[in-house]
Amino acid sequence: MGAREAGLPERVPVDGLPPRVTIWEVGPRDGLQNESAVVPVEVKLEFLDRLAGAGLTTLEATSFVHPKWVPQLADAEQLLAGLDRREGVRYPVLVPNERGLDRALNAGVGHIAIFASATETFAQRNLNSTLDEQFAMFEPVVTRARAEGLEVRGYLSMCFGDPWEGVVPAEQVVRAGKRLLDFGCSQLSLGDTIGVATTGQVAKLIETFGKSEVDVSALAVHFHDTYGQALANTEAALRAGVSTVDASAGGLGGCPYAESATGNLATEDLVWLLEGLGIDHGVDLGALVETSVWMAGQLGRPSPSRVVNALAG
Ligand code: HMG
Ligand code: MG
Repeated sequence: MGAREAGLPERVPVDGLPPRVTIWEVGPRDGLQNESAVVPVEVKLEFLDRLAGAGLTTLEATSFVHPKWVPQLADAEQLLAGLDRREGVRYPVLVPNERGLDRALNAGVGHIAIFASATETFAQRNLNSTLDEQFAMFEPVVTRARAEGLEVRGYLSMCFGDPWEGVVPAEQVVRAGKRLLDFGCSQLSLGDTIGVATTGQVAKLIETFGKSEVDVSALAVHFHDTYGQALANTEAALRAGVSTVDASAGGLGGCPYAESATGNLATEDLVWLLEGLGIDHGVDLGALVETSVWMAGQLGRPSPSRVVNALAG
């Protein structure tokens, strides 16, 4: 069976879940930042165009980080210059500091994401900052970006477990997350950077945010699939009221500064779940599978996504 003729699961709506989910596609950024091969900018542009063609409307395109820290995304300017922006699609980019913001503004972006750590060690490893220094770095970025009319998402990494510090207490995560929201981020994406969370922990963290007067509609979830829990954790987050879910086409991804991080939840696996639960997602699964098979060919290794493998013809 070819991917275009792919079957879909029976739609069986379940009470208590959101009617529609926004998929925040991170493959071009979180996926490609962790590939050992540097992907040519033309291939990245085709990837973005194919993802938009498959119906995805939020495509995290690249990062304006230090090119030595993430050489895979050192072509951010070139990529933005070559991007054929489609109507109805937004192309957020990662920005760590004011230097990154200057670069992003020059490239004409309309939406950025800052990325903080919930733990001291990962702030050091990923941002060369202490926990407090990272907030001092991000605050002026958010203020200036908002003044320029940009939308700003805040990421928070290591929300459940940290390879150096172990289990991360929910209260510590909420304290850090609230600071990003207070700076003016319109959304907070809770990252399970190393994929260790389980469903009860996810429900507990979202509930702890709720008890701290954070509106659940401002939360998104970002699961890496290291321990095979990403899909189950997504359902737990949906049940807790979250309706924005990060995923990467074909399950590409990881984080170069957290060795135990593997790929993100695969977008195809997410779409299969949402479709089965009768939740609108807007994605043409066949076209997406074809895109991931094509990208796997470019990277020279098969996609780890179960749904891609089941449907690829
Ligand atoms: P640093 O080396 O401490 O930077 O890096 P610095 O401020 O000391 O500056 C040193 C030099 O770098 C200066 O140049 C700056 O201008 C330049 P010089 O004056 O020496 O010629 N510089 C820059 N150049 C270009 N673009 C910039 C930039 N900033 C400074 N933006 C820094 C600090 C934050 C920049 C560095 O640590 C960095 O780039 N880190 C990014 C790491 C990264 O991208 N990690 C992956 C993304 S996070 C992730 O994947 C997790 C997530 O998916 C969620 C989850 O899974 O949990 C989001
Ligand atoms: Mg990530």
